[in-house]
Amino acid sequence: MSFKNISIEKKYGIATIKINRPKVLNALNEETIKELTKAVEELEQDKKTKVAILTGEGDKAFIAGADISAMSKMTTQEAKKFAELGHNMLFKIENSRLPFIAAINGYALGGGCETLMACDIVIAGKSAKIGQPEINLGIHPGFGGTQRLPRLVGRMKAKELLLTGRNIDAEEAQRIGLVNMVVDDDKLIETAEKIAGKIASKSSFQTDFIKSLVNKGMDVDLPSACELEISKFSSSFSTHDQKEGMKAFLEKRKPDFKGK
Ligand code: CAA
Repeated sequence: MSFKNISIEKKYGIATIKINRPKVLNALNEETIKELTKAVEELEQDKKTKVAILTGEGDKAFIAGADISAMSKMTTQEAKKFAELGHNMLFKIENSRLPFIAAINGYALGGGCETLMACDIVIAGKSAKIGQPEINLGIHPGFGGTQRLPRLVGRMKAKELLLTGRNIDAEEAQRIGLVNMVVDDDKLIETAEKIAGKIASKSSFQTDFIKSLVNKGMDVDLPSACELEISKFSSSFSTHDQKEGMKAFLEKRKPDFKGK
């Protein structure tokens, strides 16, 4: 499928997806959300792709939120459908077998902050600004912000950010656990690619297992979560990659993982 509002570039097992609406700071309208959802579904089927990087076109924004101009005309029913589309897209990213690295190049506001929270690793350029400013528009987050933010930063901090609509800089975002690392703006993509390359060299069986164990495990009680771990741990022993990983260690060489 060819896309109008996003671009995808693939190399060395890494797919870089760019939101491509720089004139409106990469705001998410319905069409862009549908394209991004489709892109995740397609990459999921592409066995050569092992990791995805998500970023925004230009140097001003990752995603400045849902498209306010489109939302300003929505009825209650249309707003419901729009929120459902956004949630569906973010669940696709969160539940994807592919680790998603968000590279935050500027504003990640509203739907942009909600998108980075569905990713697995978040790297921010020093000039990034992150927040949930929806309250300033007379609404609240509609793509999971009221739910993922407290799970990530704790309910007190989440309520402060949601109630004030205050945007925070990259350093503060790192301090509260919303961002993994902060790098110079001109090193952002290079850093994301370096981390993506490292992950791409691992067993794709295990990157999938680890991601789903952490995500699913956090939503159930600890004993049930540990049962999930036992189940995946034991099934790892019927994979080529477990045998290869341990054999390579014992033979003092680098493993050659095949994702099988
Ligand atoms: N939707 C639509 N258009 C947007 C947009 C958005 N979220 N963010 C920016 N734009 C547009 C602006 O309207 C402007 O368009 P024009 O050139 O046609 O006027 C263009 O992008 C450039 O923006 P600014 O001139 O405002 O740039 P700035 O540097 O002065 O300010 C900014 C940057 C602080 C990010 C400011 O644009 C801003 O506050 N944007 C809105 C951020 C926001 O409120 N996001 C939350 C949206 S609601 C949401 O996301 C709900 C949800 O959970 C689903």
